[in-house]
Amino acid sequence: MNNRMNRREVLVRAWQAGAALVAGAGVWTTWDLLRPAKNSGLGGLIRTVPPEAVGDTGAVEVLAARAFLVRIDGEIVALSETCTHLGCRVPFCESSNRFECPCHGSVFNRAGELISGPSPRGLDRHPVEVGEDGLLYIDTESKTPGVAPGTFTIDEPSTGPSCATESDH
Ligand code: FES
Repeated sequence: MNNRMNRREVLVRAWQAGAALVAGAGVWTTWDLLRPAKNSGLGGLIRTVPPEAVGDTGAVEVLAARAFLVRIDGEIVALSETCTHLGCRVPFCESSNRFECPCHGSVFNRAGELISGPSPRGLDRHPVEVGEDGLLYIDTESKTPGVAPGTFTIDEPSTGPSCATESDH
């Protein structure tokens, strides 16, 4: 009888140990899948295009960095495409030469400075550097908050109709 109980206890303990092992493996696998990866994808250094690909007009979208590269007075700047109001993705409108947020209508000039709308500041900026391979790298781990409303470093007029207006009609 005592021997039988011991065998039962051993089996229960073995089953419990097996269940704990399976649960632990599940937790580890989940953590391994979900933890942020260093230097890959968003949150790291994103390899982009050669500096020559960023012209004096327009904006070059870098999807992997969720950012745009623009050349302002000869300097290349990386603007976050996350709206500083409530976080919508802000596309660049070629016809108006503006970044236009489709959610609540914030409008930014090509330097990411707030022209109108409910955003509390301009678009945030990421550092950009030229790598040893000659390509531009955007550091998405670091950013500088966009400038306060009313701050303008460029004076580029709108070049045409707003994309938001066009799509509304
Ligand atoms: S999220 Fe862009 S204006 Fe509201």
